[in-house]
Amino acid sequence: MEALHIIGEEHQSLAAILHAIRFMLKEISAGRLEADIKLFQAMVHYLDAYAEKRHHPKEDLLFRRLPERTGEGAEALAKLGQQHAAAPQRMAALEGALASYVADHGRFKEFAQAFDIYAEFYREHMMLEEDEVLPLLRTHLTADDWVELDAAFRAEMQTKSGKDGAAEDFSALFSRLVECAPAPIGFGPRPFGN
Ligand SMILES: [Fe+2]
Ligand SMILES: [Fe+2]
Repeated sequence: MEALHIIGEEHQSLAAILHAIRFMLKEISAGRLEADIKLFQAMVHYLDAYAEKRHHPKEDLLFRRLPERTGEGAEALAKLGQQHAAAPQRMAALEGALASYVADHGRFKEFAQAFDIYAEFYREHMMLEEDEVLPLLRTHLTADDWVELDAAFRAEMQTKSGKDGAAEDFSALFSRLVECAPAPIGFGPRPFGN
C-alpha cells in the first residue's frame, strides 16, 4: 500500500501550501506582511503543476480499481471524477485572479477571495477522498492490486522525479516554498526570487 502512503504524503504537502497561502493573505490584509508576488506565483504554479496535474492522475489509477472490487463508494467516486476533470476551469479562475492582482495591486481582495474558494474546494475534496474512498480502497483492493498499483506509483515518481532534469523537481520547489513562507508556517519570510 505504498501508493496510499504517497497519496497521504501529497495531501499533507498540498494542505501545507494551501495553509501557507491563506496565512500570508491574512497577514497582508492585516498590514503585517508585505506581499511577495513571486512566491504567490510559485505556489499557484505548484498547485496547478503538482496538485492538479500529478496528484489527481495518480489517484485516478487507484480509484478506477474500486468499482472492479465493490459497488461501495460509487457516488463519491463519481463526484471525485468530475472534480478531477474540472481542474482546468478551477485553475483558470485562480490564475486569472492572481494575474489581475499582479497587474493591479488594488485587486488584492479579489485574489484573496478566489483563493479562499479554491482552498475550501480542495479541503473538502481531500476530506472526501480520505474519509470515504481511501478506506474503501484499503478494505477492498487485493494484494495483487497493490503490487501492481505500488509499482505504477513508484514508476511515476521515478520517471518524473525531476532529479535528471527531465521533469520539474517538485520536492525541491516545495522546500523552497516552505523556506520562503513566513514563520510559523514556513522559515521566512524570505524573498522567493526567481
Ligand atoms: Fe483528488
Ligand atoms: Fe487527493
